[in-house]
Parts: sequence; C-alpha cells; structure tokens
Amino acid sequence: MMVMTGNSVFSGMLVIIILMFSVPVAAGEIAEDNYKTYCWQCHGMSGIGNGINVRDMSVQPRDHTDGKDLSTRSDDELFMAIKEGGQAVSKSVLMPHWDGVFRDEEIRDLVRYLRKLCQCEHGKYKRD
Ligand code: HEC
Repeated sequence: MMVMTGNSVFSGMLVIIILMFSVPVAAGEIAEDNYKTYCWQCHGMSGIGNGINVRDMSVQPRDHTDGKDLSTRSDDELFMAIKEGGQAVSKSVLMPHWDGVFRDEEIRDLVRYLRKLCQCEHGKYKRD
C-alpha cells in the first residue's frame, strides 16, 4: 500500500514536471518545425534566404537572420506578411499567404522565431 501511494505521488509529480517544461518549450519548437517544413524552400533551413527555390525567383526571399532589415519591421508587419502574404505589406506575391494553414497563435510563434533568427526587435505585439 505504502509503495503504491509513493508511486502514484511520484508519477503525479512527474506529470506536473513534464507539463511545466513541455509547454513553453513546445511553442518555440513547433515554430521551428513549421519554419523548417514550410519556409525553408525559399528562406533556407537556417533562414538566410538560400532555399532551393531561389535560383528561379525574380524577387529573392528575405534573409531572416539580417537584423538590419528585420529591425525596421514591427511584429505586426511580420505577422501580416506571413498571414496575408507579401502583397499585403507591399512586397512580392512570391511570398505566399499562410492564412488557412496556420492559426493566428502559430503565426505569432513564427514571428517570435524570426526574432530569434534576426536577434532583433521592433514594435512588439501590443498584447505582449
Ligand atoms: C515560395 C517562396 C517562399 C516561401 C515558401 C516563404 N516565403 Fe517568406 N518571402 C518570400 C519572398 C520572395 C519574400 C520577399 C518579398 C519581397 O521582398 O518583396 C518573403 C518575405 C517574407 C517576410 C517579409 C519580411 C519583410 O521584409 O518584411 C516574412 C516575414 C516571411 N517571408 C516569412 C515567411 C515564413 C514565416 C514562411 C513560412 C511559413 C515563408 N516566409 C515562406 C518567399 C517565400
């Protein structure tokens, strides 16, 4: 009896510990996975804009590690570019819109991931 109680307390704690660590890590990891699934063909695996599509593209994808460039864009602008596509922010239609692929929260996580890549900030989300 004592052993069983000890075990269930232990597994209960384990669940709590796993939850504590997995929730914040998950969002960033999912964003990175999404980037490396959906964005790399153009922006490159490491975000420098050297994906396999670029040779034939008339407008080159943004280098997401370029802090000089991305520090002039607000989080809202990046969000809009991803959600509604390049045209929505007066950029090339070659940047697709991801509305319908990602939920808003996932797009916000992608923006956070871009901020990690560029190590820059500008105009944080109003709700942060
Ligand atoms: C088919 C190629 C392609 C894919 C796939 C693609 N992009 Fe782009 N992206 C572009 C191009 C081209 C531009 C540059 C547009 C311009 O400068 O006129 C761009 C620009 C951007 C910008 C705007 C940066 C700025 O200067 O304001 C963001 C943000 C962005 N992409 C994020 C993403 C994310 C996130 C994904 C994946 C979910 C993605 N892109 C997938 C081609 C692509």
